[in-house]
Amino acid sequence: MIRRFRCAYFVPGLVVCLVTLMGCSRTSSRLSSAELNGQDLFDLHCALCHEGMNPDLRKQPPRLEGLFQSKTLPSGAPATDDQVRKTVIEGLGTMPAFDQRLHRDDVDHLVKYLHTLK
Ligand code: HEC
Repeated sequence: MIRRFRCAYFVPGLVVCLVTLMGCSRTSSRLSSAELNGQDLFDLHCALCHEGMNPDLRKQPPRLEGLFQSKTLPSGAPATDDQVRKTVIEGLGTMPAFDQRLHRDDVDHLVKYLHTLK
């Protein structure tokens, strides 16, 4: 009697655990909340150009994986957080400026997310 009582709690508990674990492995759970916000912003504002082909542009946007692993950005400017922030805020060539569309915090989160792209 007592055994059956325990089992009734154990089995649903196990199911909840498994579902939680499965849920976690599906999302990129290793990112911090700032990086996750950066990822959302990237998908919304940047991926169109930087992850896909955008034939309308005169210059193809560079891929941004491993951006900070090299000493310089594709343009030759130093690969620093400040320089990337400046690019996003002011734009560069055919890349639009995001100063009117993103808050400073958002730009910081974007830069944090770019650091996670390997
Ligand atoms: C309309 C297309 C477009 C969008 C949207 C866009 N970019 Fe770009 N991006 C470009 C192009 C084109 C370049 C190359 C500019 C050049 O060198 O003339 C570039 C260059 C860059 C560079 C390299 C700068 C350097 O000094 O080499 C970074 C970093 C960058 N973009 C980040 C971003 C981020 C972050 C976003 C989202 C907030 C974004 N871009 C949105 C088109 C785009």
